[in-house]
Amino acid sequence: MSAGQRDGFTSTFGVLVATLGSAVGLGNIWKFPYLTGENGGAGFLLVYLLATLLVGLPVMISEIMLGRAARADAVSTFATLAPKRPAWQAIGFMGLVSAILILAFYTGVAGWVFAYIFKAISGGIATTDPKVAGAAFGALVSNPLQVLLWQWFVLAFTGGIIIMGVSKGIEAVAKKLMPILFLLLVLLCVRSLTLPGAMEGLKFLFAPDFSKITSGVVLTALGLAFFKLSIGIGTMLTYGSYFRPEQNIPATALRVMLADLTVSMLAGMAIFPAVFSFGFAPAGGPSLVFMTIPAVFASMPGGQIFMVLFFVLAAIAATGAMLSILEVPVAVLNERFGLSRRNATLLSVGVLALAGAPAILSESLTAGWQLFGMNPFALFDYLSSNVLMPLGGILMCLFVGWVYGLPQLEAELSNRGRLANGWLVRILFVLVRYVSPLLVLVVMLNGLGVLALLGLKF
Ligand code: ALA
Repeated sequence: MSAGQRDGFTSTFGVLVATLGSAVGLGNIWKFPYLTGENGGAGFLLVYLLATLLVGLPVMISEIMLGRAARADAVSTFATLAPKRPAWQAIGFMGLVSAILILAFYTGVAGWVFAYIFKAISGGIATTDPKVAGAAFGALVSNPLQVLLWQWFVLAFTGGIIIMGVSKGIEAVAKKLMPILFLLLVLLCVRSLTLPGAMEGLKFLFAPDFSKITSGVVLTALGLAFFKLSIGIGTMLTYGSYFRPEQNIPATALRVMLADLTVSMLAGMAIFPAVFSFGFAPAGGPSLVFMTIPAVFASMPGGQIFMVLFFVLAAIAATGAMLSILEVPVAVLNERFGLSRRNATLLSVGVLALAGAPAILSESLTAGWQLFGMNPFALFDYLSSNVLMPLGGILMCLFVGWVYGLPQLEAELSNRGRLANGWLVRILFVLVRYVSPLLVLVVMLNGLGVLALLGLKF
């Protein structure tokens, strides 16, 4: 890269694995399988798929497109594309806040994952009793110094890759890690599905129960669609700004969405058959990953090696996602505010070390800090997935549908006429102009209980 030239992804494969690396994350492992099993199996999956097709994919394509059209960070993109309407830059600033909220708890959980790789290797969590596994996990998360140190380790590790740059850091790491992730996942899946009684786990995951689909569950599915594709916070916009001019954006987004869905399903099939096979109760979130899974692996022959592989898999997944979210503030500080990439990273990591502390200390020092009945950890998660990401998505759609407009959308998504995808762009335009924002708004207001207050609950 010569001086003054903007860094970016260097190959089609690089674009694909980096973008997939952003989508695939802890969301596939600790959110998707449990939410699906708990909220109606195939019924939930259907709602999630609808949310992904009608909202997730259109927002993802729009975000990537905006970033590539402007070749700028999440705030400058709106300044470049709509110079006379500075208010739209608020989308970029909102994205910054969401990115920080997400990373505040996400880097903490990733810290636990890294800690567990070492615990799995040393055999320290090799117990078949979920109560003992729970006590070991409790000892970790209630120790303020340990969780902080692990979070700082993760921040330093992620920041170190970000400082290396987009092509030499993010892309190079994604190219190495993503194939390993798929390999590990398939290996764990085969192990789990060949255990006796595996069918029970598949039933938990997929048996449809439409009676469980309430307004809150629909909002959860929508929030999951946003969280999974890392959209609504400027992540895909920032990555889009590194896309090559000849990259087919709709095709790339579709591939990433399908591959991400595959990873989620495989994760579910790697986890629940094993959980049921050894007679454990399915759990969600942290208890699934850090209490149930160690006990499950400890119950199977050769389980220690699979336990190590599982936590390596989770660490890889978390890394790709964290890189993409951290890149949002780094790019803004670097391009918009003129800091060097190194200083932009150091400042972002510093802010995150502060913002992350209340979240990750939720089991110890900040346990008593409650707002809307949630501790900081749960609040950051809820606010980002169920409020800020959907809100960012709505604004992103409105910008593309009402400000950016159809002619520019057609030009950008057809790569200046080189791709014959006019029909697809017109469908996308109708979706982002009317359908997606309205749908997100109704689901959000309904799920948050605002419509009920107006006597309009669905
Ligand atoms: N897309 C990332 C995940 O699902 C944030 O973990």
